[in-house]
This record gives sequence, C-alpha cells and structure tokens, in this order.
Amino acid sequence: MNVGIDKIGFFTSDYYIDMVDLAHARGDDPNKYLKGIGQQQQAVIPPTQDVVTLAANAADQILSEDDKDAVDMVIFGTETGVDNSKSAAIYVQSLLGISNNARSFEIKQACYGGTAGIQMALDHIALYPDSKVLVLAADVARYGLKTPGEVTQGGGAVAMLLSANPHLLRLDGQSAFHSENIMDFWRPFYKREAIVDGHYSTDVYINFFKTTFEDYCEKYQRTLTDFSALVFHIPFTKMGLKALRTVISDDAHGQKLLSEFELSKQYNAQVGNLYTGSLYLSLLSLLAKATDLKAGDRIGLFSYGSGAQGEFYSATIADELDRDALANQVEPRLAQRTKLTIPEYETLYSTGLPTDGGNVTFDKSHDTGRFILAGRQDDKLVYEDTKKS
Ligand code: COA
Repeated sequence: MNVGIDKIGFFTSDYYIDMVDLAHARGDDPNKYLKGIGQQQQAVIPPTQDVVTLAANAADQILSEDDKDAVDMVIFGTETGVDNSKSAAIYVQSLLGISNNARSFEIKQACYGGTAGIQMALDHIALYPDSKVLVLAADVARYGLKTPGEVTQGGGAVAMLLSANPHLLRLDGQSAFHSENIMDFWRPFYKREAIVDGHYSTDVYINFFKTTFEDYCEKYQRTLTDFSALVFHIPFTKMGLKALRTVISDDAHGQKLLSEFELSKQYNAQVGNLYTGSLYLSLLSLLAKATDLKAGDRIGLFSYGSGAQGEFYSATIADELDRDALANQVEPRLAQRTKLTIPEYETLYSTGLPTDGGNVTFDKSHDTGRFILAGRQDDKLVYEDTKKS
C-alpha cells in the first residue's frame, strides 16, 4: 500500500537574531558562524510560545475540517515537553478541534522523536488505511548565553499529515537504524538548557550516518546513485554537510547531491535548530527549492537523536511538487519576523514560566500566532486561540 506524508506545515516565532550581530557581541569572527557553523539567523522564542502553540500553529496551516475528523492518532515528538506527565499532543488535539476518537501521546528520544512518530504512523496506516495521523515535531533549542552552543539555538515546529495515497512523499518502508547509550547531549530535569559535548556529538552523528547508510545499502541492495537527494537532521547546517562529504565523490552525482544539500539547508540556516523538526524543515526546504526533483525520485533521510538513536530511511516523491505552496509554508513567516538586538534577545531569553511555580500572565500583545501561551494559573498552563478570544 501507498502510505506517506500528504502535507507539511511549519511555524516559528515572530523574532530572530542575526548571526553577525551575535558574533560581534561574543567577540567572534562572523565567518565562524556564517561559514564555519553555517547559520545566518536564529529564531528567538518568546514566553508566549512553547512547543504546544508552535505545533498547533504549524498544524493549523495544513489541516482541513475533513482532516480533523479523519485523524485518529496525534503523535508529538519533542524534547521540550511542557509537563512531566501530560503530553503536548492532547493540548494540540483540543486547540485544533481534532476528533476525540484519537490516540494522542508524546514521544521522546532527543531529536529523533519526529522520525519515531513517522515510522509508527506508517505502521498504523498500513493496518487502518482510512486513518490519518498527525505527526508533530516541535522544540525550543537552548544551550545558554555565551556558550559555544549558543550559535546553534533556535526553535519552531513542523506538522506532518500522514495518510494513504499521499500527495507529497511515499514511504517505502525501507530503513536501517542504530542505537547506543552515549552522553553527547542531554538535559537533566533541573535544567532548561542542554548539556552538550559538541565535537564528540558531531563525530558520533557522522559515525551513525555512515553505519545506518551502509546497513541500508546492504539490506536493500542500493548505492548512492539510487538517491536524487539526501536530507539530514541539521542542528547546524555544517553538521549535515560533514556527514554528506563522507559518502560522496568528486563526480557528477556527488556534485548533484551537494547542490541539493545547499537547497535543503536554506530554511534551517534562517531558523536555527528545531531539534525534532530539523530534518523535516530541511525536507521542506529541499522540496520547495530543488526544481529538478520530480515524481518518483528517491530521497534518503538521516535522522539522529543524541544519546543516541540514528535512522536512515527512504521515500519517493509522490505527485508533481507544488513548490510555491511549499515555500508559502515558510517564507512569508520568515519575512515578517522582527529582528532583535542582542540585548533584547538576552532579556527575552531570561523570561518564561517561573521555575518555582506560581501564577503568571504574559503580555501577548506582540505575538501574531493564532495559538498563544497566555500564562499559568493554579499550576495549569493557559492556552488561547486568538480567533476565539
Ligand atoms: N572563518 C570560517 N570558519 C571558521 C572561522 C572563521 N573565522 N573560525 C572557526 N571556523 C570554523 C572551524 O574551522 C570549524 O569548522 P570545522 O568544524 O569544519 O572544522 C567551525 O568553524 C566551528 O569552529 P569550532 O572551533 O569547532 O567551534 P566551537 O568549538 O565553538 O563549537 C560546535 C562549535 C558546533 C561544536 C558548538 O556550537 C556546539 O556544541 N553546538 C551544539 C551542537 C549540537 O547541537 N549537538 C547535538 C545535536 S545532534
């Protein structure tokens, strides 16, 4: 049966900082950030947005009323959960008015959660072909002010609707995966910021890519030339480039994969890291910008979640791509953002829900999202749909 991604939506906050400004403020050469790391801008997430509102706003771009009735599973991949018990998926289901006849839950394995959700959705739809599954991948990437990881922060959400006979991408069920218990990146319960051994993490990521790619090729008797493009989880765009370089040669096909990679990193370079959503924003960038890709072309996707889980899997482009519609998911949103100064960003960075409990009401007057986190009352998060309030 034909199962895959039918629609993709995206959302990020109203604010960003420029990496040249950040480099100047931190006493670094801007080219380290722009070329060495490969990032141009970084989304800054205000207190009025969290993973629930980011994901609800992303899904709102793609779901029709019929979709909302047909969705019988909402899977939320995140490592920035809003509660130790209750899943972010339940909040999104209710904010969007998705049918209550659905299984709604959250998955965590660092940046891999969205991919786990997609694989689970594939199995579910193969069993129940009339069903639709909403997979949400949303995170806020925080490493701390004035840390080496600061240049690789960001945040946002990708929402994907999976169904039988999808219009965008057919999943062929071919996949290779690898996991190991390692400490390259993690976030203890008491911290809002991640702890990362960035150079070690990059080495593990590249090794996991090579391992899963080789396993995949052996399992399914394929070679690099079977792929029209490879897309990567890209916490910073140079990371994916480093992995790609380990498998390509200096021939025409290697050059093609390199130029497709350039297109696949465009949006990520302006948003920064979205953890779970990073691979899927890169996919959106590729599909919107690679004008030579056509129906039937095979794409390889490499997913990586620190700690660590890697997976390389494949999919083929379903119908002729509507690139304008795909670009419309991202570009108008990025174009309307407000640039913050570094001191403004530092102030926003330090605001949020009080960590010791207590009620709070946020100033939501500057947030243009439909769904907003208005605050917390009696230990309950207060979400608002601005279309209704
Ligand atoms: N012009 C151009 N390039 C420059 C430069 C300049 N003036 N100065 C430095 N660079 C290059 C370096 O050569 C290096 O490139 P390379 O990796 O290709 O060798 C790159 O910029 C980064 O420099 P480096 O000294 O390694 O930076 P750093 O020690 O500050 O750390 C990270 C960079 C990415 C490791 C750090 O930001 C980090 O840990 N980020 C988090 C990573 C992450 O999210 N991992 C887990 C998720 S999977």
